Amino acid sequence: MSVLADPKRYHVTTFGCQMNEHDSERMKGMLETLGYDEAQAPEDADLLLFNTCSIRESADSRFVAHLGHAKRMKKERPGVLVGVGGCWAQSVKDEVFERFPFVDVAFGPGQINKLAEFLTAESITAQGYFEFEGFPAHLPTKRNRDFQAWVQIAVGCNLKCSYCIVPSTRGRESSRPYEQLVDEVTRLAADGVKEITLLGQNVNAYGRDLRTSDPLPDALLPFHEAAKRPTGSGDKGRPRTFAELLTAVADIDGIERVRYTSPHPKDIREDVVAVHAALPEVCDHIHLPLQAGSSRILKKMRRTYDKQRFLDRVAMIREQCPDISLSTDIIVGFPGETEEEFQETLEVVDAVRFDSAFTFVFSPRRGTEAAEMTDEFVPHPVKVERMERLVALVQKHARERTQRFVGRTVDVLIEGESRTDSDRLRGRTSHNKVVNFTGFGVPGQTVPVEITGATSQTLSGEMSLLTLSA
Ligand code: SAH
Ligand code: SF4
Ligand code: F3S
Repeated sequence: MSVLADPKRYHVTTFGCQMNEHDSERMKGMLETLGYDEAQAPEDADLLLFNTCSIRESADSRFVAHLGHAKRMKKERPGVLVGVGGCWAQSVKDEVFERFPFVDVAFGPGQINKLAEFLTAESITAQGYFEFEGFPAHLPTKRNRDFQAWVQIAVGCNLKCSYCIVPSTRGRESSRPYEQLVDEVTRLAADGVKEITLLGQNVNAYGRDLRTSDPLPDALLPFHEAAKRPTGSGDKGRPRTFAELLTAVADIDGIERVRYTSPHPKDIREDVVAVHAALPEVCDHIHLPLQAGSSRILKKMRRTYDKQRFLDRVAMIREQCPDISLSTDIIVGFPGETEEEFQETLEVVDAVRFDSAFTFVFSPRRGTEAAEMTDEFVPHPVKVERMERLVALVQKHARERTQRFVGRTVDVLIEGESRTDSDRLRGRTSHNKVVNFTGFGVPGQTVPVEITGATSQTLSGEMSLLTLSA
């Protein structure tokens, strides 16, 4: 008997990055096509899904605690199905069923469509799906917000950062066809989407594995020696570039904002920065993951840039886009990191003055090169102490950097009510700063707001009626 005899309800719990959030939207879209409805709480659901992350140990343990809850629910209501998808599932594969025998279905990040196969099968027996298949067939998505959408431009990662589990959970890098992406964004815009975020592990690598005979947009020609170079593959044409994709999607009617995450510092090139400078739709924010300031540690991390090259990239960005916001990721206590080397991280942070930073304590991940460097592991208290110093510096810069907006009138895309005061609205600037403000408007609308105050994380202000009526 099919499990879909009655209308069923699902609940999805998502861990991890934007990729997973987007994958969850696709799971939800697919389930609704199959006739499922979304349950408000796990207690009300017949299908409990977990979209997992394994980037750090803390991500694993958070999820394992949730699974304990699912086990109890399944005991009370034996008909409940439990599914585990995403990067953790992929990293342990069939071990999922050994460790958690009550799990009915497990699948890796590229295998969302297999979930449908499982649910519509004649009989239910525990199943695991862990093949890498490139892009899943087109799946409907159930977006969180009508006016914002993720767009996945590539899967996988071909880099080998020695601490990182992602290449083993998401497979080899592969770019989605350019025409498909332009079509998708055109459809999204027609559907009311104003802001898109292009997703990939290394978005600037987009298009290297694609070939086209289309001419490059004139504005990008000066930067593209590589594009003009023979490809060595007959007359199949030149590679696609991330900068041309940005240009094309920013040009689509209705698209007001284009964001992307994450670029790799080694690949953020002048053409991409020139597009930021030239096109108002391409947001005034770049996430540039530093990871560490010491060139020796960067080499051990296999990041393929050194301290100076990172600083040069920042200088190039700031020269073309002086006001742009820069955010970053930093790992503290990588194996072998000395006090002097940690201080180099502080030095780079001090030199760059990031607008915000995500800071992580190194966490050994199974199967990675750095997890084998056990002799050089930095003691936990040392990592914690370094983290405190780093966070203090990052906070100081964040506080100072947000002050530059005070007194300016900026465009804010309204996202909803302020979380702390329901009489006020909350939105985001092109620089990716959250603004709480007094004014009126509906989610998805862009309004001018005069900024009157700033903390390290958020801005506050008042809607500027003067500009609106001008
Ligand atoms: N592809 C993206 C990042 C993916 S993971 C990129 O390269 O930017 C997000 C962040 O988690 C990384 O930038 C890194 O700072 C952090 N991270 C990854 N593996 C980690 C580990 N083993 N321990 C601590 N932090 C880690
Ligand atoms: Fe991981 Fe490095 Fe790939 Fe980012 S670029 S996903 S940190 S291997
Ligand atoms: Fe993302 Fe976590 Fe996988 S950060 S790519 S969900 S390991």
